[in-house]
Amino acid sequence: MQPVLDYLKQNQKRFLAEFCDYLRFASVSAQPQHKKDLHACAEWLVAHCQKIGLDARLCPTDGHPIVVAKTRRETRSAGPAKPHYMVYGHYDVQPPEPLDLWQTPPFEPRIAGRNIFARGSTDNKGQNFTHLKAVEAYLKTGTPLPCDLTFVIEGEEEVGSANLSKFLTRHRAKLNCDAVVISDTGMPTPKHPALTCGLRGIIAFEITVRGPARDLHSGIFGGAVENPAMALAQMLAKVRDDHGRIKIPGFYDDIAPLSKYEREQNQRYPLTDAQLKKLVGSPQLFGERGFSATEQRSARPTFEINGLTSGYQGEGSKTIVPAWARAKITCRLVPNQRPAHVRKVVCAWLKFICPPTVRIEITAGHGAEAYHVSPESAPAQAALRALEKAFGCKPILMREGGSIPIVNQFKKILGAESLLLGLGLPDDNAHSPNEKFNLDCFEKGQRLSAHLWQELAQPEPGS
Ligand code: BES
Ligand code: MN
Repeated sequence: MQPVLDYLKQNQKRFLAEFCDYLRFASVSAQPQHKKDLHACAEWLVAHCQKIGLDARLCPTDGHPIVVAKTRRETRSAGPAKPHYMVYGHYDVQPPEPLDLWQTPPFEPRIAGRNIFARGSTDNKGQNFTHLKAVEAYLKTGTPLPCDLTFVIEGEEEVGSANLSKFLTRHRAKLNCDAVVISDTGMPTPKHPALTCGLRGIIAFEITVRGPARDLHSGIFGGAVENPAMALAQMLAKVRDDHGRIKIPGFYDDIAPLSKYEREQNQRYPLTDAQLKKLVGSPQLFGERGFSATEQRSARPTFEINGLTSGYQGEGSKTIVPAWARAKITCRLVPNQRPAHVRKVVCAWLKFICPPTVRIEITAGHGAEAYHVSPESAPAQAALRALEKAFGCKPILMREGGSIPIVNQFKKILGAESLLLGLGLPDDNAHSPNEKFNLDCFEKGQRLSAHLWQELAQPEPGS
């Protein structure tokens, strides 16, 4: 094990240069003009995996390719088969816009102090790269790995992972594994490494309301013709009360209440309201009464407008009644909420409150259930030991508010639970301008991965 840790220490400079190469691909899965960049990024990953000693291939899909890389099977020695773990990650990134808010261009990595800035640095290239560097250290030092590993790094996580689901079904036998290891979440501070036991689910949809057949002169027609932007704003305003409690009938059906134990754990989460307020830059915090900020952003469902568009957006003014208005919406879901049911009640309510002066269209996007996993299983306990060894402090248990839809498929299709070992920090600016990854997290993440394979192979603590 020591040679592995020494190798990691000695090669950080090269690792960082390679990480920069990985970050230079503009692998924005949501934008069709970047299709080639995703392909090139996947090819780079395959070549990189081969260079470090893995068997790697690019698997084309109907969308962006999936990279699969495995540790080589040694010529069979007698004895029981090794456990098999999958390491999941994604090389696709969120759109970098608005570009003018980036201090330096999003796909030209910049190192400043202990941070590296680029789109995809924390979400998720930096996090999945730590696992590749740890396995490289095993392979290049000739240290036996106590388990077989299969890396699955996809290119469609940020758009719902539709093709990976099909891939899992098709290659179920080969991907059969004891657990899936995922570093694609966060930890509250560098001194609080975390095992995440829950993720929120999600439903996405778009609402369009249409009024007049074309944009109209607002002086000539305004007043007698409904303004679709106003109609949509009024409808959306009815969705919640002043504290964010959703007023849609049936929205809160089935939700599992928080246990006393969980509420106590939530109180231990080391981010005060004042720190949170400073971090996000809002004039004041917000949220449903009776729940702490930690609970509001991880254990309660939401209805969010992600985008709102209508009328003239250019410079100066243009006096029109726009023909249409559109909102992009996602709801975050918590355990026991059924995505199909929530979608049904939300659509029914919006159609019910839509005034007769506009026509409403709702198009459905991706959806996923929330995820919950026991921290008491042997793999979870092994992960906690590895976290403590790598970071040198006691890890915490937490729920995250974000979603990784594919974890439900890992469970349903492969029967495998996911170990969520996030390395992101709250100020990493995931999905925002000036996204960054902390280089201490990068290094400690590599050590975490190195320790994890040892700990997972040990049935009893300390043995
Ligand atoms: N890495 C995130 C998920 C995440 C972030 C979980 C922080 C917990 C804490 C992932 O890349 C992501 O952004 N997922 C999307 C999923 C969606 C596009 C279906 C999300 O949560 O918005
Ligand atoms: Mn993301």
